[in-house]
Amino acid sequence: MEGLVCVDDFEKEALRKLGNVTRAYYRSGADDEFTLKDNGAAFSRILLRPFMLRDVSNRDLSTTVLGKKVAVPIGISPTAMQRLAHPDGECGSAKAIETIGGIMVLSYFATCSCEEVAAAAPNARKWFNFYMHKDRTITQGVFKRAEKAGFEAVVLTVDAPVIGKRRDIERNPFDFPPHIKLPNACPDEEELSVSKAHDDIDHGATWEAVSWIKSVSRLPLVLKGIQTAEDAIHAVELGVDGIWISNHGGRQIDTAPATVIS
Ligand code: LAC
Repeated sequence: MEGLVCVDDFEKEALRKLGNVTRAYYRSGADDEFTLKDNGAAFSRILLRPFMLRDVSNRDLSTTVLGKKVAVPIGISPTAMQRLAHPDGECGSAKAIETIGGIMVLSYFATCSCEEVAAAAPNARKWFNFYMHKDRTITQGVFKRAEKAGFEAVVLTVDAPVIGKRRDIERNPFDFPPHIKLPNACPDEEELSVSKAHDDIDHGATWEAVSWIKSVSRLPLVLKGIQTAEDAIHAVELGVDGIWISNHGGRQIDTAPATVIS
């Protein structure tokens, strides 16, 4: 860790250290990776005009999200399979965000269970990501489990009814090392495969699913992957509590615009 002082440093070091398969899984975007590249480039097109001689002796980045305070406007996105990189997996990320007062969003495809994450970071604000299961009783069970573990909201990924085509993964085919489990998405599976984990997702889910979720879950609902004003309006009309503008890190629909626009 010595000499690593910014996110770029950590990324370079991780890409150097990770094995080919894990690196391909974490790094890759969909198809030509046009969106993946534009996500980074879009930030470099935004420049700020700083004002001088203002009193900055007290600096405060706090704000509110879903009506409650966060110390920093930063959260950890639901990124899958973190134990491929480190034995602490998502528990380590949750502890880190707890330290700075942001929000942990646990992936449906996490390698730590929601109960483990809750125990590791009891004071972090925690949201639970999920996908619609073909069997809705299983999805309903997810809400109960999340609530019981102290997660305060559920986050439905809406941009991945089928998983994007990532060429790097095709070049470095993925299989689960034996110590990797998906205790939130597939709690009962002894033998895992990526295709099995994704096969359970309902590829036919529509806005009807959103109304159904609102009718069966008491937790606030966030839709992750909204990219148009039309869909945002639709979500609000159905009583959705939060809209997460995202293109899935460029991993799903290539040629979608970057989500920050100058
Ligand atoms: C991915 C899904 C699982 O991007 O979120 O790989």
